[in-house]
Amino acid sequence: MTYKIAVLPGDGIGPEVIEQTVDVLKIISNKYDKEFIFKYALMGGCAIDKYGEPLPGETVDICKSCDAVLLGAVGGPKWDSLPGNKRPEAGLLGIRASLGLFANLRPAVIYNALKGASPLREDIVKHGIDIIVVRELTGGIYFGDRGRTVESGVNAAYDTEKYNVNEVERIARVAFDAALKRNRKVTSVDKANVLESSRLWRETVIKVSEEYPQVELNHMYVDNAAMQLIRRPQQFDVILTSNMFGDILSDESSMITGSIGMLPSASLGTGTLGLYEPIHGSAPDIAGQNKANPIATILSAAMLLRYSFGMENAARDIENAVVKVLDKGYRTGDIAADAGSSVGTVEMGSLIKKELKMA
Ligand code: IPM
Ligand code: MG
Repeated sequence: MTYKIAVLPGDGIGPEVIEQTVDVLKIISNKYDKEFIFKYALMGGCAIDKYGEPLPGETVDICKSCDAVLLGAVGGPKWDSLPGNKRPEAGLLGIRASLGLFANLRPAVIYNALKGASPLREDIVKHGIDIIVVRELTGGIYFGDRGRTVESGVNAAYDTEKYNVNEVERIARVAFDAALKRNRKVTSVDKANVLESSRLWRETVIKVSEEYPQVELNHMYVDNAAMQLIRRPQQFDVILTSNMFGDILSDESSMITGSIGMLPSASLGTGTLGLYEPIHGSAPDIAGQNKANPIATILSAAMLLRYSFGMENAARDIENAVVKVLDKGYRTGDIAADAGSSVGTVEMGSLIKKELKMA
């Protein structure tokens, strides 16, 4: 069996964390006797430097010809002054849209070994945190009509939030399906007390929920959800929300687990092709210094194996290897209690590879 994986290392710490992750996938390939073919392509700032655009057509073609896409991170100060549609981030939005990846799954799990790294009080985290944010990824204000205008001589700008019923139904189903495999609870987050698009969202989610009588559904306004996440995170199982609210709440959910450097994500469409990337960004301040935590990207590879290749056991191997390394006390700077005793990107990668080989 042969699988093709498009690899987009991107910018900043992207190439460093991707290098470790590709090594991990090579070990899995040997162990499970599957051939992985890696096809590298440029996206983000590195693509702007070479081709003058963040998402070259060739990159889209390579991704479409593969079975999964592994992405590092994009962006950096060098490209911050470019117009919106020429920025590295536009490449990311473009690839999500071109591949039809409407469902973004962002698990936020607290590791036992890292409970002390959570910024929340111990009596709040002692019950554990195990949340998955299911974020709509190809609609809403990210893709709505936007522009600049002049109102009575004053410059103005606008962005539009719009959802149709089909878009809400399909993401709601992803959330309910995920809940069936977990604790059977969906919290749909909206701003239905103000936004018409949220009222349509809520009505639609309620309709879809009738197909899932085993799953408990509740609704929460986004401001309250932001508060409840730090007040009592264990009340959440699956959080279902729009593109923009999901962007914000997934950063919050990941931070309460201790480190954004630990958390992976999967972006899926209707088929098995998916895009897998760490939740964190390109961290230009530590790029090239062997300081980045490669775990979020390595765990993204586990999600890739699980969702795109159906290799559940291989995914668990990787996840177990990560837990073992953490249990042995190894930490990168972002999760270390004292920075002096931390290991670098390469060393963390090697430790995980060593565990994998022993498993
Ligand atoms: C994310 C990021 C992106 C987003 C940016 C880089 C465009 O913050 O994946 O959460 O807002 O979707
Ligand atoms: Mg974000």
